[in-house]
Amino acid sequence: MPPPKMFLQFLLLLLALPFCTPADTITPTRPLRDGDFLVSKGARFALGFFSLGNLNHRYVGIWYYNISKQTVVWVLNRDDPINDTSGVLSIHTRGNLVLYRRDSPLWSTNVSVSSVNSTVAQLLDTGNLVLIQNDGKRVVWQGFDYPTDTMLPYMKLGLDRRTGLNRFLTSWKSPSDPGTGEYSYKMEVSGSPQLFLQKGFDLIWRNGPWNGLRLAGVPEMNIGFLFNASFLNNEDEVSVVFGMVQPSILSRLTVDSDGLVPRYTWQESDRKWVAFWFAPGERCDNYGRRGPNGNCNLYTADDFECTCLAGFEPKSAREWSLRDGSGGCVRIQGANLCRSGEGFIKVAQVKVPDTSAARVDTTLSLEECREECLNNCNCSAYTSANVSGGGSGCLSWYGDLMDTRVFTKGGQALFLRVDAVTLAQSKRKKNIFHKKWMIGILTMGVALVTVLMVSLSWLATKKRKGKGRQHKVLFNLSLNDT
Ligand SMILES: *[C@@H]1O[C@H](CO)[C@@H](O)[C@H](O)[C@H]1NC(C)=O
Ligand SMILES: *[C@@H]1O[C@H](CO)[C@@H](O)[C@H](O)[C@H]1NC(C)=O
Ligand SMILES: *[C@@H]1O[C@H](CO)[C@@H](O)[C@H](O)[C@H]1NC(C)=O
Ligand SMILES: *[C@@H]1O[C@H](CO)[C@@H](O)[C@H](O)[C@H]1NC(C)=O
Ligand SMILES: *[C@@H]1O[C@H](CO)[C@@H](O)[C@H](O)[C@H]1NC(C)=O
Ligand SMILES: *[C@@H]1O[C@H](CO)[C@@H](O)[C@H](O)[C@H]1NC(C)=O
Ligand SMILES: *[C@@H]1O[C@H](CO)[C@@H](O)[C@H](O)[C@H]1NC(C)=O
Repeated sequence: MPPPKMFLQFLLLLLALPFCTPADTITPTRPLRDGDFLVSKGARFALGFFSLGNLNHRYVGIWYYNISKQTVVWVLNRDDPINDTSGVLSIHTRGNLVLYRRDSPLWSTNVSVSSVNSTVAQLLDTGNLVLIQNDGKRVVWQGFDYPTDTMLPYMKLGLDRRTGLNRFLTSWKSPSDPGTGEYSYKMEVSGSPQLFLQKGFDLIWRNGPWNGLRLAGVPEMNIGFLFNASFLNNEDEVSVVFGMVQPSILSRLTVDSDGLVPRYTWQESDRKWVAFWFAPGERCDNYGRRGPNGNCNLYTADDFECTCLAGFEPKSAREWSLRDGSGGCVRIQGANLCRSGEGFIKVAQVKVPDTSAARVDTTLSLEECREECLNNCNCSAYTSANVSGGGSGCLSWYGDLMDTRVFTKGGQALFLRVDAVTLAQSKRKKNIFHKKWMIGILTMGVALVTVLMVSLSWLATKKRKGKGRQHKVLFNLSLNDT
């Protein structure tokens, strides 16, 4: 039996259907009261009042209209619930969208509107609530600029450099309380911009800079199949936006109250949201787990994922032996990195270090990047800024390298500055490696030849013996004949 509340809603819907399809706009003459709702033109999203655990907390929000599990994607008054059903959302005489509680304003947009009576608020099929001035069809305010915990397709996260507005996600307090929680997912624009998952001010996970193909920290980001993405970094904005390759699929990215960032897709056959992907998942995702100049590697022999980058050693051998890598790594003592034969070691398949303080020069080639890095004794590593199309641009680091990790696939090569001694060691290792290969190949060759010769001689003997037997048979036959 369906729960009574759902049943009632269903009945109301049935009753309402023949008379009118719900509107998708709020106009100066048609406010939205508690109990009413807007439905976007293509019937994808609904906007109205709702409550969750506490029925005395009424919120204005947006949810998917035509799926069986009510999934709220945006909340207008997340920290100011209304404790009764007196809420009204309407266009105020000055053209702003205002939420009233018992006739007193609780929340309002703050835009200057020229002509008052031509303003409408419309719920779009993307899930965006927009305030439009009809004269000129200008969008003067939009809900997508004030995300809650959900990033919908076509919603931008990031900084609008012209207005200073940074759009980011913040978790709910709990699954039943949409109030502002402690986790956020936010664009940091310094250096090469990256999105960070944070708990308060603590960095939890970094999804890396845009490398021309994808966010460097998300090698699973299988762009092209389910969704595409674009990243903008220009004088107007730094932003990332996802689009859907198959618009019929419902997909959303959220930051939840447990501090996870899952991407869900709706499975109509099972009537549930399935986590397509989530982060942070592995030990190596954790930003603070190892300190400066470490390299997280899940596939070490001793099952401790913290290693030091080449040319570095654990800052505290004792902590390290207790499997605490948070102190990080320091340069091997006596290493000279300035004009004394230093060079670069290629570290393959990594998530590039934190780029918050890195330098970006899109005009340089990788070779020019190497030159530039070599000529500045403070430069600790470099790589291509854009890996698409064979690589271009220059990304370089000065000082400590934070949050580097190894991926099994989809990582990027990092060129790490090391002193002459480490460089020579690495070359020798490479040579030994080569020698081992050569010896291996030689041994196998010799073995193969031996096996071949042995089998050949065996065959030859067998043939000879066979012939002998034939002779004998012939001989016997001839004996019998006589
Ligand atoms: C509801 O909130 C109003 C304003 O904050 C307050 O005056 C009123 O006492 C509250 N009512 C209940 C039942 O909590
Ligand atoms: C509304 O906008 C005006 C002008 O942009 C600004 O001066 C004012 O502080 C804003 N008010 C609020 C409540 O944000
Ligand atoms: C707006 O309101 C004014 C007076 O209230 C009226 O004269 C005008 O025609 C209205 N404009 C529109 C576009 O409805
Ligand atoms: C995704 O692809 C569609 C169709 O090719 C395109 O219209 C849309 O702009 C793309 N979106 C993004 C965010 O790149
Ligand atoms: C919801 O509506 C969209 C757009 O009309 C449609 O593509 C989708 O199949 C519908 N989903 C369900 C579960 O009815
Ligand atoms: C290298 O770093 C030191 C100390 O941080 C600074 O004084 C010096 O100017 C830097 N050199 C270059 C070439 O940037
Ligand atoms: C990255 O390089 C590709 C191929 O050269 C180019 O098409 C693309 O625009 C570049 N991306 C950025 C962000 O510069």
